[in-house]
Amino acid sequence: MNSFTFYNPVKLHFGEEALEKLPKELAQFGQKVLVVYGGGSIKKNGVYNAVMEKLQEAGKSIFELSGVEPNPRVETARLGIEICKKEGIDLVLAVGGGSVIDCSKLIVAGAKYDGDAWDIVKRKFIVKDALPLGTVLTLAATGSEMNSGSVITNASTEEKFSWGSPAVFPKFSILNPAYTVTVPKNHTVYGIVDMMSHVFEQYFHNATNTPITDEMCEGVLRTVISTAPKLIEDLENVTLRETILLAGTIGLNGFLSIGSQGDWASHNIEHAVSAIYDIPHAGGLAILQPHWMRLNVSVNPGRFAGIATRVFGVDATGKTTEEVAHEGIDRLSAFWTSLGAPNRLADYDIDDAKFDQIVEHAMENGPFGNFNKLQEEDVRTILQNAR
Ligand code: NZQ
Ligand code: ZN
Repeated sequence: MNSFTFYNPVKLHFGEEALEKLPKELAQFGQKVLVVYGGGSIKKNGVYNAVMEKLQEAGKSIFELSGVEPNPRVETARLGIEICKKEGIDLVLAVGGGSVIDCSKLIVAGAKYDGDAWDIVKRKFIVKDALPLGTVLTLAATGSEMNSGSVITNASTEEKFSWGSPAVFPKFSILNPAYTVTVPKNHTVYGIVDMMSHVFEQYFHNATNTPITDEMCEGVLRTVISTAPKLIEDLENVTLRETILLAGTIGLNGFLSIGSQGDWASHNIEHAVSAIYDIPHAGGLAILQPHWMRLNVSVNPGRFAGIATRVFGVDATGKTTEEVAHEGIDRLSAFWTSLGAPNRLADYDIDDAKFDQIVEHAMENGPFGNFNKLQEEDVRTILQNAR
């Protein structure tokens, strides 16, 4: 295990009554609340009204920023920052999925910075201070509700980068599984792929003696794999939604990378693809991550084979470690496809026309990935194999 300091201050309220905790949370902050949300799903499913009622009961002055895009744009965050500065906002309340929360993280950080918000995303300005942020999560996927990361797109430069700061950990997050039953099938599948992908990113590391986190990772994966097919057939099942919702949060709240450093190369390549093509984040991961795995089996075949046998039930009898590893990866890819995820770039009409640009974007900060440092030719190979 690597030495570590673990810090996660997010207060999580989880369950069908979770919103009842909102008034007490609101009481800690000032009068002016900026509610940030997406394209309107919360108005259709009643979450908007439920949240507004609580804010009104608490006597808050309410400001709104709607229209946060999936793959949220820096331009939208700038609008929120302007409102915060002009109105003297005391608390930003993000109501939605990972995109709304990520955009809100940039808003709370940008509200305390005099320069342009893109400086924060490009890490030219290191965030030390931010307005308080609360979240009401409506989609299980990113773990953004319990982490300090954010992923933002700049449409004008076709760039998409992650950034983060302890200052933007939400002060509280409200998770009601019933709020997620209206997530359509495609976004439910993307969420499932994303949370599994986060576990893989953290599982593939080079630290030794990590049995606790290995077991936690494998347990989360087995649970998601047994739950997901049932949920896809029964989208309104709150019990199944509950399991998946918690899996998404545990998948990226830091617990799974205690004592190790995750890889994150697949995410980096995916961000470079979706910066240009604006595809759903996890659609890209379902296509790319199995190819990252195939390219990297030789780094530690035993680690891949362990996942294959203990998570995907591959029978290792009479096979080499490499064969078992590859069978596990094939099963993973087939599993994601069986849920309805894409498995080739061609599924999004992406050919090799912009591979140079994608490679350049992915390599912006040099070779990347902590399990294995990818060079330019590795990124190109992954893209070619994913065509
Ligand atoms: O915009 P609205 O109308 O709300 O619709 C959204 C959106 O169209 C809809 N939706 C959300 N909750 C719903 C619902 N529809 C019906 N009922 C509900 N209850 O779902 C669509 C997708 O929402 P989005 O927030 O984009 O999805 P997700 O949570 O998967 O977030 C994806 C973004 O997070 C980033 C991704 O790159 C992408 O930009 N990531 C953030 C991470 C983080 N902060 O830690 C890590 C991840 O790896 C990821 O990169
Ligand atoms: Zn992700």
